[in-house]
Amino acid sequence: MPVSGLIDEDGAYCSLVRYVSRAKAIVIGSEMTLTVEAEVRYLNDEWRHRAGLASIGSGESRRANTRKHNVFIRDARAKRDELSLDVNGFTLVDHVSAVPNFGDEDSVRSVYYAEIERLTRDVSGANEVFITNHVVRTEDKSNFNSAYARFLHCDYSLKDPRSASLKTLESRHLDPADYETADFAWYNSWQPFDHEARNNPLAVIDATTLAENDIVDYYYTGNNASNKSSMPLFNPRHELWYFNRMRTDEVLFIKQLDTRDGYAQACPHTSFDDPNVPQDVPPRRSVEVRLLAVFR
Ligand SMILES: [Fe+2]
Repeated sequence: MPVSGLIDEDGAYCSLVRYVSRAKAIVIGSEMTLTVEAEVRYLNDEWRHRAGLASIGSGESRRANTRKHNVFIRDARAKRDELSLDVNGFTLVDHVSAVPNFGDEDSVRSVYYAEIERLTRDVSGANEVFITNHVVRTEDKSNFNSAYARFLHCDYSLKDPRSASLKTLESRHLDPADYETADFAWYNSWQPFDHEARNNPLAVIDATTLAENDIVDYYYTGNNASNKSSMPLFNPRHELWYFNRMRTDEVLFIKQLDTRDGYAQACPHTSFDDPNVPQDVPPRRSVEVRLLAVFR
């Protein structure tokens, strides 16, 4: 990436990344990009080689199995047009939803699901889209599942995306034989509602900066379940991005799985505390939809 230099808060030019603290402007090509210094949690490095898998399903198990790392998270708006779901694993699109109240399950299922299905076809070129569920997140910390996710993670194990896809089709009473030659990708859509997302925005790792062994399985044990999923281990080569002040008419798509060789396989993500955001800003509200896309 052609990072040519940095400009500090007073407008003074400096050439070394180590001088950046909290929020600064960084120059990418000819564009100015906001960069935030923040802490994000990665899975403890011991799990890179240790036998067995970590289990995370509460604030306590999250703290025991993850460690905070100081990272720089850059605003991706300046390179929005260059981002691709297939290569980077994330992209931002415009979308005005007709849903008046995202707390109303029925209107999310009847109106929003159809909107996201259409949008997914447009953004990915998928032939068929199957939505599995959605999660509305608010500042309420009482439920680990619907609170902001405060550690870098993927939503599924990356080990066998084809089986996971066929299983979902079978659960819809579709014949896996009809999908023998199809490819599959799993995506999440993520959209703020009520107001722009300033507090606890979503950071993602650019898939092009993930090394092959950076993501390992763990058990997600929230809500008394035990599902195999996956998480990244720290690697200083990772590039983290977010969209500053994401609006309610914008949708972020992130990759979760892909059966196609040469495509981004995953986009690890986490919420983070932006230390520059004033305390009195309203808490983030967001809706995410999880879905399977089929490519014929
Ligand atoms: Fe997630």
